[in-house]
Amino acid sequence: MKMNMNLSPNQNQGQQFRFAPHMVKIPSNPIFHLLPKLNEPGFISFAPGAPSSDSFPYADIEEITRGLLSNNPRELMQYGSTEGYAPARKSMAALISRYGLSPKPGEVIVTTGGQQAIDLLCKLFVEPGDVVLVEAPTYSATLQILKSYRAVPISIEADDDGILPGDLEEKIKIFAPKLIYLIPTFQNPSGRTLTLERRAAAAEIAGRHNVLLIEDDPYRDLRYHGEHLPTIKSFDTADHVIFLTSTSKILCPGLRVGAAYAPEALIPALTVAKQAADMHSPALPQAIVSAYLDRGLLDAHLSLLCGQYRRKLDAMLDAVKRFFPEGIEYRPPQGGLFLWCVCPERLDTAELLERAVDEKVAFVPGEQFFADERVTNTLRLNFSNAPEADIPKGIEILGKLLRKSLAP
Ligand SMILES: Cc1ncc(COP(=O)(O)O)c(C=O)c1O
Repeated sequence: MKMNMNLSPNQNQGQQFRFAPHMVKIPSNPIFHLLPKLNEPGFISFAPGAPSSDSFPYADIEEITRGLLSNNPRELMQYGSTEGYAPARKSMAALISRYGLSPKPGEVIVTTGGQQAIDLLCKLFVEPGDVVLVEAPTYSATLQILKSYRAVPISIEADDDGILPGDLEEKIKIFAPKLIYLIPTFQNPSGRTLTLERRAAAAEIAGRHNVLLIEDDPYRDLRYHGEHLPTIKSFDTADHVIFLTSTSKILCPGLRVGAAYAPEALIPALTVAKQAADMHSPALPQAIVSAYLDRGLLDAHLSLLCGQYRRKLDAMLDAVKRFFPEGIEYRPPQGGLFLWCVCPERLDTAELLERAVDEKVAFVPGEQFFADERVTNTLRLNFSNAPEADIPKGIEILGKLLRKSLAP
């Protein structure tokens, strides 16, 4: 199962499609190709960064949806405002206020998942050849987006506490980037969290050098240990930080409701970019999320979710300790959805995945998360999605495969 899933000019029954050359080079996310297998009975998946489907508040959502459809169907079924359904804009502003920020609804635009905000910002700012500074590793879909706008992603050096501010400043001086993209909390895929001092430094450096910084923070509410940290945006005295959030990981991703909190002067430009993309995010999901948040249901839900995910993380850490061979390095995350493992360099985790899938276990090889270097010995394990009882079983199978692959 060699994963060459790039678009091919000959992919469709020999027909020649004249794809834009830069799109042909963008690798497809291997997770999507695994999806049909992941649903096979007995398959244990540590692959997608998905919340547990068992956790979704189905009864509340059903009741809210019934109410919305009986009270307000005309407005919700009609074309709506690009910036967002007005009550949802307010509710998303209120959600962001929980993070120590104080956005006005006019500074918030509702997006189709947090991911659309990344796309819209690139659409607005990136010209072919522009440098965008990212973390190593970083969210693979952001790399896909950057490449689709023909940006040049360049990595900022990092350690277990996130990016090194000194290197951020150095790279700004060398490359004059258009944007900086950071995931400060329980980062995807590494699980690491940027320290308080580095958050303040990142905001200060971006402001001083007049570079926009995208703070993508969809995991911050999923904290199982330690104290919440202030956002980078909270240190942003120069209005250079755009804060992104999403309800995908804390409520359910299928509703596709996210938001960007940006300087008010940027909202009209983001609105034009979104008009051209999808006119507006679907109104019914926005209304459902808005009602859910306004009813104050999130806190109890988060507390259930965090309890469940903390137990799953503990089960995974315990199993990794028992079953993984020496030489696999990992750092327990304080929250989020991922455990990141660095294996000895001779191991190719894409090959390991082929063997794992034969044994009905999946994870994500780390290669796709790196912007400008080829790193083949890392892997990302998601712990939220698989049933807790399956975690030790799946890790035991992976441990055996790792031992075999690493045997001299
Ligand atoms: C860092 C990061 N940003 C954005 C997203 C996109 O999430 P959504 O579009 O579902 O809000 C993800 C999803 O995995 C992510 O990990």
